[in-house]
Amino acid sequence: KTIAFAGSGGLDSCTITRWLTDQGVKVVCFTADLGQPDEDDIEAIRSRMLAAGAVDFVMLPCRDAIAAIGVDVIQAQACYEGRYWNTTGIARCVLAKAMIEEMKQRGLTVFSHGATGRGNDQVRFQLITNMLAPEFDVYAPWRDESFLAQFPGRSEMIDFCQAKGLAITASKDKPYSTDANLLGLTHESGLLEDLKTPAQFVKPIMGCYPQDAPDQAEELSIRFEQGRPVAINGQTVSLVEAFLQTNAIGGKHGIGIGTHLVENRFVGIKSRGVYESPGVEILGTCYAYLLQLILDRRAREFYDQLSLLIAKQIYQGYWYDLATQMALRAIARTAELATGTITILVYKGTISFLSAVDVPHILYSEENASMEGVGEYNHSDSEGLLRVFGVSARVLATSGQVTLER
Ligand code: ARG
Ligand code: SIN
Repeated sequence: KTIAFAGSGGLDSCTITRWLTDQGVKVVCFTADLGQPDEDDIEAIRSRMLAAGAVDFVMLPCRDAIAAIGVDVIQAQACYEGRYWNTTGIARCVLAKAMIEEMKQRGLTVFSHGATGRGNDQVRFQLITNMLAPEFDVYAPWRDESFLAQFPGRSEMIDFCQAKGLAITASKDKPYSTDANLLGLTHESGLLEDLKTPAQFVKPIMGCYPQDAPDQAEELSIRFEQGRPVAINGQTVSLVEAFLQTNAIGGKHGIGIGTHLVENRFVGIKSRGVYESPGVEILGTCYAYLLQLILDRRAREFYDQLSLLIAKQIYQGYWYDLATQMALRAIARTAELATGTITILVYKGTISFLSAVDVPHILYSEENASMEGVGEYNHSDSEGLLRVFGVSARVLATSGQVTLER
């Protein structure tokens, strides 16, 4: 029997691979290059997985794919329950799709992963595999009683790997778990589960905390064309470069680092996480400024609903279903209009708006907005309009529906 296993070279991956191998299962390990900033070099992961018993190791190049979804998420402003940019959920979509395609090439039909039975990732892997390859089986050791009997927790895994002579990087006191990719990092579990542990207990990997950032602010301009970031400070960039450069600048200034969130997992339990996503935060904020100039009130209301929907869809593993496709098509219409150059100032974790120029589809009119006697808008025209509004407001007065009491 041969299975495909999504492994990162970490403790769980080594344990699962060895445990399966010992039972006579052939394990083909898949790891995606998602542009992880703390990137353990792929060769080191390969040798750890092969040492654990994997019969083959496959590296899936996914940087462009994750950058592409990163832009979709920015265009949709798809943040989950606050300012979590869904970076782990996005990575699961990208990894699972690439892995399933490669599995089909190789005739493999069992998709295995090391996600626990308590999280979102198991749901994402399951739904994505079921949707893209209904003929595949999904196998999660963390939900297998015989695995759980032997490995109730991390310490048993560490003992097991040590007994088998496997070179693992984890130690019994690793204080939390980190998931990383080009778009950001998520830190969860371990000591972070205690709400008395401050968010800043996490040692940032993509930069620093605001209080450690330079005293000198930095100006930054992002050029968007049809919703895509195409230039930074006047220099043309690819999508991957756009994320890398904004990660570097944002990280240096403490932008989007240490975001604390207690969120509702899809399985219904609350979990506590600490997030880093400096580049997405910068690009996403600039994009938000641009949208403010372009969307009218009705478009805005509809957009906000789509935004919420798309954020949930990614988080819950429904990226490839019809609702997401429908919503993304509608968002694409807004992205077509999102051209312009936004200049900001980044300083100790904050982003301030400096200017917006070259926005061809702008609705904002300085003349109409002005308090000065300019533009087409005549104050006295409001007289009739307000009399019309006033009719229904006065009906409310006599209806008994209006009260000052609660
Ligand atoms: N709660 C986040 C999500 O579901 C992050 C989960 C993974 N994080 C981790 N450190 N293993 O998308
Ligand atoms: C896990 O439980 O495997 C990681 C966290 C999550 O999936 O939500």
